[in-house]
Amino acid sequence: MHIVSFENVELAYGDSPPILRDINFTLRQGSFHFLTGSSGAGKTSLLRIIFLAKRPTKGRVLLFGDHIDTLPRRALSNIRRKIGVVFQEFRLLEHLSIYENTALPLRVTGQKEAHYRANVLELLDWVGLGHCLDATPSTLSGGEQQRAAIARAVVSQPQIIIADEPTGNVDTQMGKRLMRLFIELNKLGTTILIATHDQHLWQAFDYPRLHLEAGTLSRKPVAKGNEKGRKNEKGRKNEEGRENEEGRENENEQTNKADEIQVQQGETNIKAG
Ligand SMILES: Nc1ncnc2c1ncn2[C@@H]1O[C@H](COP(=O)(O)OP(=O)(O)OP(=O)(O)O)[C@@H](O)[C@H]1O
Ligand SMILES: [Mg+2]
Repeated sequence: MHIVSFENVELAYGDSPPILRDINFTLRQGSFHFLTGSSGAGKTSLLRIIFLAKRPTKGRVLLFGDHIDTLPRRALSNIRRKIGVVFQEFRLLEHLSIYENTALPLRVTGQKEAHYRANVLELLDWVGLGHCLDATPSTLSGGEQQRAAIARAVVSQPQIIIADEPTGNVDTQMGKRLMRLFIELNKLGTTILIATHDQHLWQAFDYPRLHLEAGTLSRKPVAKGNEKGRKNEKGRKNEEGRENEEGRENENEQTNKADEIQVQQGETNIKAG
């Protein structure tokens, strides 16, 4: 099943020329993709369409198999609840503590605090925020706020996580740790889409990417030399039957592979229970 499907999607802001043109792609359930492109290429704009903050000016968008234009408002808010978003600018609520910000998605669905408190604390501890549960966002560093934004996006175990530059404000070590969280959630079946303009990030991992350039989107395979990733990619090709010659031609582009991380089984099992 496709969680996300874009058909001939165009997006323009106001009367300006479109910044996204004729965008076509699908995200299969359980897939993991990077969304790349230089600053201003339209990554955040494309994500906004997926999390229903922006309507395309042309084309069709299907989420969880439904054409969004045909759905009533209530169905759209149900869909929105299945999508965890890490905003590029965090969007934490200043009048709430880090603990409360993180627990908010659970609270708004009416869950009892006794039921989720331990999970939230464990998650915050894992992202290195166990020492500032009661702090308000503005008293924390950019990297700490980013980690809280990630914790809030994943805490309700959404079906898809859309993360906009989720490692842009943390150091390399913490970036890898946060990536392990996304990888572990993906192993549990969560669909992941990570927007980044950081070449080092996507080159370090075995995942295909969707690349935005001049308003159009192309699929790129995983980094060259990464045999495991290429096998995975082959599997995906067979399954989807849609990867093309262009992908193979572009393999030469990606030559550097940063040190690969090992996913420690159990280290991120906070979300399994
Ligand atoms: N609300 C808006 N109104 C008008 N133009 C906008 C708006 N949001 C974005 N744009 C324009 O759309 C283009 C794409 O912006 P977007 O934020 O999607 O890029 P991006 O790929 O996410 O960039 P970055 O890597 O810097 O985050 C830019 O030219 C930007 O100025
Ligand atoms: Mg952006």
